[in-house]
Amino acid sequence: VSHARFVDPVATTTRTANLADADAISELTRQLGYSADATEMRSRLERLLVRNDTAVWVAEDASHAVLGWLQVTIGDSVESGRRAEIVGLVVADNARRRGVGRSLVAVAEEWAAGRGVSVIGVRSNLTRVESHAFYQTLGYAHTKSQAVYRKALC
Ligand SMILES: CC(C)(COP(=O)(O)OP(=O)(O)OC[C@H]1O[C@@H](n2cnc3c(N)ncnc32)[C@H](O)[C@@H]1OP(=O)(O)O)[C@@H](O)C(=O)NCCC(=O)NCCS
Repeated sequence: VSHARFVDPVATTTRTANLADADAISELTRQLGYSADATEMRSRLERLLVRNDTAVWVAEDASHAVLGWLQVTIGDSVESGRRAEIVGLVVADNARRRGVGRSLVAVAEEWAAGRGVSVIGVRSNLTRVESHAFYQTLGYAHTKSQAVYRKALC
């Protein structure tokens, strides 16, 4: 008789991020194509984790390896009032199609709704083909496509 404890290999949990996640988050962020070393990521998290209008979550497996992260921020504008936005989301290449992204989005929606925000949105590059199928499956409607402009200030 085996007494080995059964560990579901695909069991994942979501929890709020902390500064100790900087390395894992920067590694996943590089997978998304953005450069972010761990030191820079740590200072970004130091700024973001204390904000009331922002939450960052990670998903981890049974051995506490970080499989994905999500940032949601509540914005406010003259045009539209308060709206939540998924500012970033990435799931590790080797952990996709296991419901990790779905779980992270679910906690973001619950967090925003709990703050009285009635709409959540996300902007995703048209080149991220998988993300469009993903968001539409989760009930997000494609409402517009935009050009994005940027100018260096120094
Ligand atoms: C988009 C992304 C976050 C999805 O994460 P994920 O953990 O793989 O998604 P889930 O397993 O929770 O998928 C939920 C559902 O979305 C749909 N979906 C997800 N990925 C899909 C794909 N590549 N093609 C078609 N449908 C897809 C499916 O209906 C899926 O359910 P199913 O697997 O039971 O069929 C992930 O692919 C990723 O990190 N991509 C690169 C970064 C990115 O595009 N981020 C979003 C920019 S804001």
